[in-house]
Amino acid sequence: MRDMIQWGILGPGDIARVFADDLVHAPHARITAVGSRSQERADDFAAKYQIPYAYGSYKELIENPDVDIIYVATPHPMHKEHVQACLQAGKAVLCEKSFTMNAAELEELVVLARKNKVFLMEAMWTRYLPAIEKVREWLASGVIGDVHMIDVRFGNHAVWNPESRLFNPSLGGGALLDVGIYGVSFISMVMGQQPTTIKSLVKLGATGVDEVFTALFGYEGGQMAHLMAGLSLKSKHEVTILGSKGEITVPDFWQAKTVVLSVYGKQEETYVDKAAPRGYTYEANEAMRCLREGRLESAIMPLDESLAIMQTMDRLRADWGLKYPFEASVASHEKPSQ
Ligand SMILES: NC(=O)c1ccc[n+]([C@@H]2O[C@H](COP(=O)([O-])OP(=O)(O)OC[C@H]3O[C@@H](n4cnc5c(N)ncnc54)[C@H](OP(=O)(O)O)[C@@H]3O)[C@@H](O)[C@H]2O)c1
Repeated sequence: MRDMIQWGILGPGDIARVFADDLVHAPHARITAVGSRSQERADDFAAKYQIPYAYGSYKELIENPDVDIIYVATPHPMHKEHVQACLQAGKAVLCEKSFTMNAAELEELVVLARKNKVFLMEAMWTRYLPAIEKVREWLASGVIGDVHMIDVRFGNHAVWNPESRLFNPSLGGGALLDVGIYGVSFISMVMGQQPTTIKSLVKLGATGVDEVFTALFGYEGGQMAHLMAGLSLKSKHEVTILGSKGEITVPDFWQAKTVVLSVYGKQEETYVDKAAPRGYTYEANEAMRCLREGRLESAIMPLDESLAIMQTMDRLRADWGLKYPFEASVASHEKPSQ
């Protein structure tokens, strides 16, 4: 693997633009090619970011021999097909969240990546932020004692548009796969396991997708977590982790720059990430570090954990009776796999 890593962008939409803006801050990284369903959109994106190759198809992007890794940024119902095509061609992949629509789809991709020995990673960008690394460091040090509970809120008021990817079931709409996933993933990171018990309530909107939900998770050791997410209400995007000796608060946790440690009887400690690069640089750096070291997955966001998180989300949707138009059924995964 060369020192300079050459990226391909598949699906030049909103998040691909943010990712490309941030990739400028990653050392030894270059966007070499972009693939769109339209030559015009590929050309526009390529002109903006000075990308040498612009293709009017995803196939041509995947076939470019100079590209080391492809960032898949299409809506989540298309992730399986697009990631599969990359892996079959031996191309490493960083895939946007939600990784896939359900655990069965993701399992196929994980099996394929492992069979073909190709790098695959979920672009759960929150995981790779320095502020979240600080949370993991504090938790590992035992400074807040035993973790008993987590509370997560992520309400995002989205403009109602039944055709948009947020509300349209054919485009994978719903709060869980758009914003709830950040909470499910964060809770999984802290607890290091999936819940044995899930209780939840949901409000399904006019298009049939989950517009607001609240869930309680219970764990083998007696720990608990509460998660609330929604597309039709505005809330702080905040996490509180409660331990036997204190708590950690993460304001705006999905794009965290600040984390606060309160240990009872001690002065409050605040960590602020003052680094210049924007958030998406960190996930790109982690993917490139793995490639340079010849790793097939990231230890920060392992594939088995991505899969277990997807199973937990399947369990929530099974409770709500929410299946997408292209799903025959949604598995309930009664027993967590980790
Ligand atoms: N990490 C984050 O913070 C974050 C934030 C927002 C979104 N996301 C994730 O990123 C993914 C894309 O979201 P986005 O907001 O960037 O969406 P978007 O603006 O709609 O862009 C998606 C792109 O995918 C391509 N595409 C391929 N098939 C499509 C189809 N059937 N319908 C619509 N577009 C299709 C389109 O590009 P061409 O037609 O030009 O190929 C489109 O521009 C989603 O999975 C979302 O959850 C992540």
